[in-house]
Amino acid sequence: MWYRGYVGRGAAPEILLNGLHRLEYRGYDSAGIAVLHGGNLQVCRAVGKVKNLEAKALGSDGLPRDAHTGIAHTRWATHGSPTEANAHPHCDDHAVFACVHNGIIENHQHLREQLRRKGHTFHSETDTEVIPHLIAEFYNGDFLAAAAAALRQLQGAFGVALLCRHHPDQIVAARKGSPIVLGVGNGESIVASDVAAVLGHTNNVIFLDDGDLALVTPGDVSIRNLDNVPITRDVSRIDWTLESVEKGGFDHFMLKEIHDQPESLRNALRGRLDADQGTAILSGMNMTPHDLVDIDRIVIAACGTSLHAGMVGEHLFEDLAGIVTEVEQAAEFRYRNPILSSRTLAIAISQSGETADTLAALREAKMKGSQVLAICNVVSSTIAREAGRGVYLHAGPEISVASTKAFTSQVVILLLMALKFARTRRMPRQTGVELVEELRRLPDQVARVLDRAPEIERIARKWAAARDFFYIGRGYLHPVALEGALKLKEISYIHAEGYHAAELKHGPIALLDEDVPVVTLANDIDGKDKMLSNIQECRARHAPVILTATEGDTDVAGFTEDVIRIPRTHQCLTPVTTTVALQLFAYYVARERGCPIDQPRNLAKSVTVE
Ligand code: AGP
Repeated sequence: MWYRGYVGRGAAPEILLNGLHRLEYRGYDSAGIAVLHGGNLQVCRAVGKVKNLEAKALGSDGLPRDAHTGIAHTRWATHGSPTEANAHPHCDDHAVFACVHNGIIENHQHLREQLRRKGHTFHSETDTEVIPHLIAEFYNGDFLAAAAAALRQLQGAFGVALLCRHHPDQIVAARKGSPIVLGVGNGESIVASDVAAVLGHTNNVIFLDDGDLALVTPGDVSIRNLDNVPITRDVSRIDWTLESVEKGGFDHFMLKEIHDQPESLRNALRGRLDADQGTAILSGMNMTPHDLVDIDRIVIAACGTSLHAGMVGEHLFEDLAGIVTEVEQAAEFRYRNPILSSRTLAIAISQSGETADTLAALREAKMKGSQVLAICNVVSSTIAREAGRGVYLHAGPEISVASTKAFTSQVVILLLMALKFARTRRMPRQTGVELVEELRRLPDQVARVLDRAPEIERIARKWAAARDFFYIGRGYLHPVALEGALKLKEISYIHAEGYHAAELKHGPIALLDEDVPVVTLANDIDGKDKMLSNIQECRARHAPVILTATEGDTDVAGFTEDVIRIPRTHQCLTPVTTTVALQLFAYYVARERGCPIDQPRNLAKSVTVE
């Protein structure tokens, strides 16, 4: 999740703990620290808050205060529960090497088995733990060379900081897909996973690129690639304030997390696309093709934004896999005595994995003998553990109360599941291959939506004073209308209603007039022609219309000057691209209204009570 290394004249334990405290708000589940002192490597780890770690590390039998080299880490669990054994740093069998790591090592099981056969023993469930054991395999006195040889074995993404007790004034750092920044000060150096941890020591930083390997010593850094070829990297001067840097330069966590989505979607897809067979690889479902074929009905239970993702899932499972699917508000599901069978698959969707109603719905489904799965973001959360199997989002911590990147990753995971079911049924291989290719391109399509932020901001500021909004959509975009309305309600406190577009004339249209803008999702998908009629209905009542429309689609020309263009994709992906636009719209309206966007009134990030 986040780490830091220090080598210099200062007291490493205190410096590293201060760094962990400073970024405590970011959310994590465990932390740890390792230092070199007197030729030994000493490690201290704890579950929960940094203060728990601090009590151990600075306690009477804690770490030596005068150690000058160390690494520290706060963990956001991706592999394995949040326990002390799984907390970083991880070491080899003889406590010669220590490692902190961000990212996902996709071939860690294979490496672990290889190392086990050579006599290595493992004490955690993490992918990270293979790294120090690999280095120990290659070490013959040259720490940097052994680290390079070990890192070349890794597949997936990593940002690492490494210690070796035989080299007390060195830290080795390497990057492949997970950011690393180095701070070179006067007689001291910092290694960190983001700039916030460097500020306070120096404003001169070096950003490593993928494939870079750095040898960090007090006040000096030398960089080469993993094949030992020397590289020169520019030194940048960072003039950010600490406050701004904690949000990665964004004004709010919500905006940072909206812009995280190309990367969070890559993480959701990483290692899960089978381009050859046109299907998805979801080992966490723990379901054989026979198990998948045996399912004759799917029920989805969730709340809020996760419920809207589930509504998209209903379309996906029926449209792609031909499986009868229904989605329900979890509280309704749990109390209405649902009819389930052993051939029903109940899916609980929850970013936090702690929502009380969704947990209760899961327990009800289990008690009635249905099969269950969870789609969560927080590893080893209650819902994830009680479901016993499912798929994690790998979206990283979602700090802002208003959920953004979790929604788009939930939809992608549901699509992967629907694809997996579909390919055990009537979907031809080629259709699956084409959908896999569409999914592979999705993060870049989302990046193109983000590029529209200035236009979206213009429209948002124009309508920010409205007191009521309608959002209308059809098909795959009906749930998106509900989600867009929820986002606006949550952070701008404007009354916003999401409706199926066909429902408008059955009553709600009575509310339309020149003061009620209607966000109309008129993307080029099934039902667009009916949406064009709905636009006319709204304009006939003098309601202002704000459109989302597919790039290049001229059918929507002339209705309004407020059009948000969305890249053309398979219609089942439009919930992802279109929702990103509506997230930005809600954000800019709330900012124009001066609302406390990251902590909206009356709301909690996780509703753990009924
Ligand atoms: C979404 O922006 C809200 N914060 C809220 O509706 C949330 O989606 C809902 O409480 C469900 O949370 P969960 O996904 O953690 O279960």
